[in-house]
Amino acid sequence: MTKQLEDLFEFLRFPSISTDSNHADDVRACSGWLIKKLDGMGLDTELHETARHPIVIARNKHIEGKKTCLIYGHYDVQPVDPVELWDSPPFEPEIRDGRIWGRGSTDNKGQMLAHVLGVEETLKEDGELPVNLIFLFEGEEEIGSPNLVPFLEKYKADLACDVIAVSDTGMVAKGVPTMGYGLRGITCCEVTVKGPSGDLHSGVYGGAVANPATAVARLVASLHDADGNIAIEGFYDDVRPLETWEREMWAKVPGMTETDMLNITGSTSLFGEPGYSSAERLWARPTAEVNGIGGGYQGEGSKTVLPAEAMAKFSFRLVPDQDPKDIAKKVTAHLEKHCPAGVTIDVEVGHDGKPYICDPHSENGKAGQVALEQAFGKAPVLIREGGSIPIIQDMKEILGVESLMLGLALPDCQIHAPNENYYVENFEGGIRLNRALLKELAK
Ligand code: BES
Ligand code: MN
Repeated sequence: MTKQLEDLFEFLRFPSISTDSNHADDVRACSGWLIKKLDGMGLDTELHETARHPIVIARNKHIEGKKTCLIYGHYDVQPVDPVELWDSPPFEPEIRDGRIWGRGSTDNKGQMLAHVLGVEETLKEDGELPVNLIFLFEGEEEIGSPNLVPFLEKYKADLACDVIAVSDTGMVAKGVPTMGYGLRGITCCEVTVKGPSGDLHSGVYGGAVANPATAVARLVASLHDADGNIAIEGFYDDVRPLETWEREMWAKVPGMTETDMLNITGSTSLFGEPGYSSAERLWARPTAEVNGIGGGYQGEGSKTVLPAEAMAKFSFRLVPDQDPKDIAKKVTAHLEKHCPAGVTIDVEVGHDGKPYICDPHSENGKAGQVALEQAFGKAPVLIREGGSIPIIQDMKEILGVESLMLGLALPDCQIHAPNENYYVENFEGGIRLNRALLKELAK
């Protein structure tokens, strides 16, 4: 195994699950490993404590007149459950079939480490970098980056830069370099519906008292019409229409045909907003999704109970120019209005993030495209992303800088799911990408 893969394996062995307080020490230990790695490369490092998980900063010696490039990444990972569905333990990485299997291999340790190792190679060979570099790595991306916005505000002057590069997004298909110029935003919420003061016998009381689980099902069903349009009043008001050039360009992006989508998702047929292709639905249209729904008996066999309570968790993916706070208000009003008689509803709004869009043909955008072409031997496709990285828009607002999204996550890398994996080929490509990128940005 190469030294670079050994580094990645060490990095992957930390169970740095940010959401789980039982793993807080592992997140911290992982930040310590990063600091040591970056120190060893001769960079100036800083570990910044936050209310929860530390932020890691590293810089080379900045020289007046050189362009400053900030590279963002996150070293925290998603939980591993259901752990029994993994073919190998999530924090004992291994290589099979040209892929590295383990939690965080793609999202985001493998992608961010490719940048670190690209910088290490350049420093070894040239003794210096063509740009002033700032690495900004956080341990809270998977929980909505609660402490990074205040950090950006506090250290705005120290973080001043000309361009931001991020590899935490997708590559549409193997061997197809991909540059993202947009991200969806997000609003999360949870509803709790309460009925009787305790569970009731469904024979003794059923039919005379409203069932909270039925009410939750009605609320869930009220979010869409039968065609798949979102039925929340005013939801689409601020949606920026797709541009003609985007529709034409996306129609040619590989990996997005109906067959591709069926294969990758394992679904038997596709469904979504009428009048849009899958790429358009994913990258430029908003959604209303139920992420979890529960209430009543879930054990073996039947239990004749009328549950006292039921719940659902929702997330709404947003596109420019929707505002997450405005959507939260509209969603809350909708749920309250549609709550059936006989139960009470409580809507708790969760974390959110703004959508992002930039011009892929800007000067920096072109440098990103050239770097992708050099690293992967082909001109990149230009897409927007279905996923969210809220901090990207925050960085645009606070630092005034656009982000290049140079994705290395393949559709079958199973981020957030069991058997997350990362092609060794993309790890190596990511290292080449970093080297080409810093050169191109310096021009
Ligand atoms: N790396 C992902 C986002 C992503 C994945 C963007 C694939 C584009 C393509 C990131 O780590 C993530 O999962 N973000 C969360 C954000 C949420 C917790 C606010 C998401 O999108 O669900
Ligand atoms: Mn993620």
